[in-house]
Amino acid sequence: MPVIRHIGVLATCAADGGQGDIHPITNGALAWADGRIAWAGRDEDLPSQYAEERPANLGMPTPLVIPGLIDCHTHLAFGGWRAHEFVERIQGRTYQEIAAAGGGIASTVAQTHAISSEALFDKCESFLGEMFSLGILTVECKSGYGLTLAEELRILRVYRDLAAAGGPRIVSTLLGAHTVPPEMRGRRDAYVDLVVDEMIPAVARERLATCCDVFVERGAFTVDEARRILRAAREAGLAAKVHADQLSDGGGAALAAEVHAISADHLEHTSDAGIEAMARAGVVAVSLPLATMYLGQTPMPARRFIAAGVPVAVATDFNPGSAPSYHLPLALTLACTMQRMTPAEALKGATIYAARAVGLEAEIGSLEPGKRAEFLVLDAPSVDHWLYNFRPNARTAIAAEDELHWGRD
Ligand code: NIG
Ligand code: FE
Repeated sequence: MPVIRHIGVLATCAADGGQGDIHPITNGALAWADGRIAWAGRDEDLPSQYAEERPANLGMPTPLVIPGLIDCHTHLAFGGWRAHEFVERIQGRTYQEIAAAGGGIASTVAQTHAISSEALFDKCESFLGEMFSLGILTVECKSGYGLTLAEELRILRVYRDLAAAGGPRIVSTLLGAHTVPPEMRGRRDAYVDLVVDEMIPAVARERLATCCDVFVERGAFTVDEARRILRAAREAGLAAKVHADQLSDGGGAALAAEVHAISADHLEHTSDAGIEAMARAGVVAVSLPLATMYLGQTPMPARRFIAAGVPVAVATDFNPGSAPSYHLPLALTLACTMQRMTPAEALKGATIYAARAVGLEAEIGSLEPGKRAEFLVLDAPSVDHWLYNFRPNARTAIAAEDELHWGRD
């Protein structure tokens, strides 16, 4: 049973307490076996049966240990890129104008239809490899660039194959309701019927996803359409998620509360009533500061969510349009500077609250006995220092099974 002793700061990130309570233990120790944590606490309290075990040797001191990071919102599988839209937005066009002119999600749908499953797998695998090096050990992956039954299932099967191939854990989400595909714009009801009557049952039957998401926004889906889809998803055993209030206050947060979603994501324009509804229903607010930054928006009001008692998670939203980066540590630093979250609050948002937002709080997200031994050793003297001194290639050691190794080795 490996053990690490004399950890400068062991941030367990246990759920209890508030957003900033990461439960740091100075001079900590951590013992694990068979991929699960056996003991975590102060080194001086380490029981003798663990103290005699072999120390894990990294060839360096262990100043900071945190749970493996969880990116609880990505659109990982897509064909092509959209760098020209990045430039167009800089030159003054809005995200909505580009989408209305045939760019945006619809353009990535066309590029995704054109890529083979093998090429899609390879592309995702290379993203996941780099995410793993950054310490991201669990990734939520949405479909949503297929928008036909066959294409949505094809993307989710790529995720299933990636999960079987190892690397970060994958949590798959059906996002058939990302936008109404151009060829069905005049028949919105028929597209919602397709999601409800064909996509959700097929995904549930083949166990291709554990969550179902809907983009609630002008130009995407209405609250009434989303309610129908998410009720059907819940009845089929999928957890509900909502892309809510990203570009306008469209009532997505209140809907997330009403359908008992596990998360509502984006939330730049959520009203106080929406925040209060989420607090009452226990919905996690997933903030996506990279998307906010790339679209030049006003940040989501994290402090108002936290004051209302809503847990705030932080994720990348990695996609080729609004957030073309999978760098979760950068998103955490942006959560600090743009959303006025402290580094400790941001860390809780990428660990235990992110685990809650993907329905895996019992397994991952904190360093407590019985949970998965998925943790990082960071080359930084404190959580504050780690997110303050942003280094794109910070040295990160990753525990996987009973081994501990450098993420970039
Ligand atoms: O979460 N808002 C909707 N979906 C994505 C953007 C997708 C795209 O632009 O391709 C998002 O920001
Ligand atoms: Fe998204």
